[in-house]
Amino acid sequence: MNIFEQQKNEFSERHIGINKEEKEAMLSAIGVSNLEELISKTIPDAIRIKTDLEVPAAISEFEYLSELKKVAAKNKVFKSYIGQGYYDTITPSVILRNVFENPGWYTQYTPYQAEISQGRLESLLNYQTLVSDLTALPIANASLLDEGTAAAEAMAMLFNHKNKDHDHITAPKFFIDEKIFAQTKDVLVTRAEPIGIELVFGDFKHVALNEDYFGAIVQYPDNDGAIRDYREFITNAHAANVMVVMATDLLALTLLTPPGELGADVAIGSSQRLGVPMGFGGPHAAFFATKDEFKRTIPGRIIGVSIDAQGNRCLRMALQTREQHIRREKATSNICTAQALLSNMAAMYAIYHGAEGLTNIAKRISILAQTLSDELNELGFNNLNEYYFDTLKIGVHDAAAIIKLGALQEMNFHFIDEKHIGISLDETTSQNNIVDILHVFARSINIDTASAGFDADALLENIPSSSTRTSGFLLHPVFNTHHSENQMMRYIKFLENKDLSLNTSMISLGSCTMKLNAATELIPVSWPEFSRLHPFAPADQTQGYLEIITELENYLSKITGFAATSIQPNSGAQGEYAGLLTIRAYHTARGESHRNVVLIPISAHGTNPASAVMAGMKVVVTRCDDAGNIDVADLKAKAEEHKNDLAALMVTYPSTHGVFEESIIEICNTIHEHGGQVFMDGANMNAQVGLTSPGMIGADVCHLNLHKTFAIPHGGGGPGVGPICVASQLVPYLPGHVNITNKTSNIHAVSAAPYGSASILLISYAYIKMLGTNGIRSATEYAILNANYMKARLEKYYKILYTGKNGTAAHEFIVDLRPFKNTAGIEAEDVAKRLMDYGFHAPTLSFPVAGTLMIEPTESEDKAELDRFCDALIGIYNEIKAIEEGKEDKKDNVLKNAPHTQHVVCADEWTKSYSRTVAAFPLPYVKENKFWPSISRVNNTYGDRNLICTCEPIEAYA
Ligand SMILES: Cc1ncc(COP(=O)(O)O)c(C=O)c1O
Repeated sequence: MNIFEQQKNEFSERHIGINKEEKEAMLSAIGVSNLEELISKTIPDAIRIKTDLEVPAAISEFEYLSELKKVAAKNKVFKSYIGQGYYDTITPSVILRNVFENPGWYTQYTPYQAEISQGRLESLLNYQTLVSDLTALPIANASLLDEGTAAAEAMAMLFNHKNKDHDHITAPKFFIDEKIFAQTKDVLVTRAEPIGIELVFGDFKHVALNEDYFGAIVQYPDNDGAIRDYREFITNAHAANVMVVMATDLLALTLLTPPGELGADVAIGSSQRLGVPMGFGGPHAAFFATKDEFKRTIPGRIIGVSIDAQGNRCLRMALQTREQHIRREKATSNICTAQALLSNMAAMYAIYHGAEGLTNIAKRISILAQTLSDELNELGFNNLNEYYFDTLKIGVHDAAAIIKLGALQEMNFHFIDEKHIGISLDETTSQNNIVDILHVFARSINIDTASAGFDADALLENIPSSSTRTSGFLLHPVFNTHHSENQMMRYIKFLENKDLSLNTSMISLGSCTMKLNAATELIPVSWPEFSRLHPFAPADQTQGYLEIITELENYLSKITGFAATSIQPNSGAQGEYAGLLTIRAYHTARGESHRNVVLIPISAHGTNPASAVMAGMKVVVTRCDDAGNIDVADLKAKAEEHKNDLAALMVTYPSTHGVFEESIIEICNTIHEHGGQVFMDGANMNAQVGLTSPGMIGADVCHLNLHKTFAIPHGGGGPGVGPICVASQLVPYLPGHVNITNKTSNIHAVSAAPYGSASILLISYAYIKMLGTNGIRSATEYAILNANYMKARLEKYYKILYTGKNGTAAHEFIVDLRPFKNTAGIEAEDVAKRLMDYGFHAPTLSFPVAGTLMIEPTESEDKAELDRFCDALIGIYNEIKAIEEGKEDKKDNVLKNAPHTQHVVCADEWTKSYSRTVAAFPLPYVKENKFWPSISRVNNTYGDRNLICTCEPIEAYA
């Protein structure tokens, strides 16, 4: 490679952690002579790709950013007055720099290991408190994917509450007020049909609810911006035993009577406008708040308060968060990845502004809206909303003509119909903007001048006293302390310091693929050309985005060996759901709608069966053999048994056991022979890219986790993107959207925005562009090399569960810790917690096999880091040996007492049977880079028995 080519390929060497010398040493430790030998021992020849992927060659980081600037210029950032759930907002720079653009926040994993996650747990608890306070409902979760899916989750929760026996649905109807956002309706339609919910659309003022209904949804303020009084409607609904969901707006709720006080059972919506850029549709955190009676069934993650081993207050994910995985096909929601990073941003925004700041922002917007309404009225344009917060519905003669005039002045309005225009104002709207809008309307009636008089003290006559908020909110000190930039910066840092992220050490979570999230991939996400676009902006203003999305979809289709891709689903689990919907629609179109059985191997991720049930399918579990492979005989028998109704197989490949099963082609053939389609869970795609592909293996559809294989960071539990890639027969059934009119589809939307979490697609796009065809294949090869190197080092000490027929692992492997339970009383959890004392996040704990750790190092780690991690596990092995040999006590030992906090180690009193040094600095490298867990071992049971999921009164912290 000459020096020019070298520059083009520089990113590969930065993304892949291993250099040439290290590679040779690692290959020799594994016992193979070159990388190709390892790969051919690992991946069955029959499914190997023999040619290069049709993806362009690599470009340098600098070249990429320069090229991207040109594409970005094709996006036009107009003032957006479109509204409909998406509003421009000002991300405070202190939050932009210290949270959104900070790897200390965005590279974290979901806080399953509470002892090294207290920072983001605290921030998510703040988010829950914010939502709970503003909605006046006691229980809130730490985010859902978007407003549309949150509405669907609310509908599903209420449906399951009322129709516990699904074979005898007594109340199948759900009422949808016609004035909710169009995209929310679209997602509700998608979600309702497969599970037998009957949707009834109408006007809330005229509907007669009865016992056939289980729930209803209204929007507050509604999609035209009108504030309506739902009290009577809710009272009538409750009288008929019907529960009510209110889709609402957190900023508006600083001024409006909150849903809880109106009697609503659930409040949902988007917290986007609290400092999270529109980003052409996402990612944003949706919120979900409800009454206490639903605390065990609320979907998504809930952060709750508990105590640690020292009896100190601490936080952790509450009961049902963990139950989602255990309940599998009995789960009522498939939410796994959510929108943690964006919830954290919204929480920080609320903390920075405080109740008064938020109220002032809301008042300013509302006064501007009132002024605009009055001035338009002077010009002869009537605002049809008697009461409103930020949105006007203006009667016009020719809406299209005014929208055109607006576009000439670089502003977008909402086209309601030929005679009505919607104008939504936001935090960024200035007095000058109001005058500019007036100019557009004036010009439409041939008036040249326009002006407006502003009164900062104007009474908000646009909000009726009956709907005016009187109750306080955000009274907790955290929302009343950090208002200066220094305070805010330090609070963010204070929390960040408690959390182990990729900027501390490797996070080898099997199945989660915690690879490098490169700065060059992430930087453009903050560029205004990408961050400030409204998802429903006209296509001629979003050409840059559309070009990137089309290109990315093509790359993903090539990589997976399929015909087409949809990037709409905004998590892996949503991808599973969307993929199954395509299969369902395909069978229905062929007159085989009775095909509803899905075979799922026992080793599958919990979201697989949960998604299948959401797609209206029946789950039949198939067995695995002793080697961890799918039991082909059992699978064949079940395919045969259900051949008349077989819809699909859901299979993860390589398996969740980290093995490329030899029988995969036979398995896919069996399903096809029995009339089913094969859905491949692409969570392990990092072991496939460039070497094999789901299409080649024989699958019909797969989902990808762009937040695993394609470098999108995990954000402490989200965002994510879960595209689906499909074979030609499924292309007509890719998700549609009310706002994509140029593409026809046979199914409705699965996400609120047409292109899902569009802004972070840039990250995966950059990953592919900068690695190029060779780099993305090398990434896979090195991921496999790193896993096998670690396996080679660790198998001298630990039993490794499951390998391929040549004794190699794929990109991950499972360490079996079960034997130590008998010999030393040590469990997998003890090892996971002890790893924290060594400065590491535990690998995946007890998935897919209880009592094990699943290690996935990824290609991005260097050999020294891999060695430190192996040294840590070997150190722990020796500690277990000492217990087995009776040299250390079975109860009072470094593992059972792990993790050791600074408080414990530095306490005046030390009563343990081992030294402080052994506790906190077990190996020399730890001294150079000590990461202190901020709490002792969390007590999960205590927290589950005493569920508290909002900030407690300040005395509790004492
Ligand atoms: C095998 C597998 N399938 C599906 C998922 C679900 O993906 P997501 O968390 O993005 O919803 C995961 C998540 O870790 C997984 O490991």
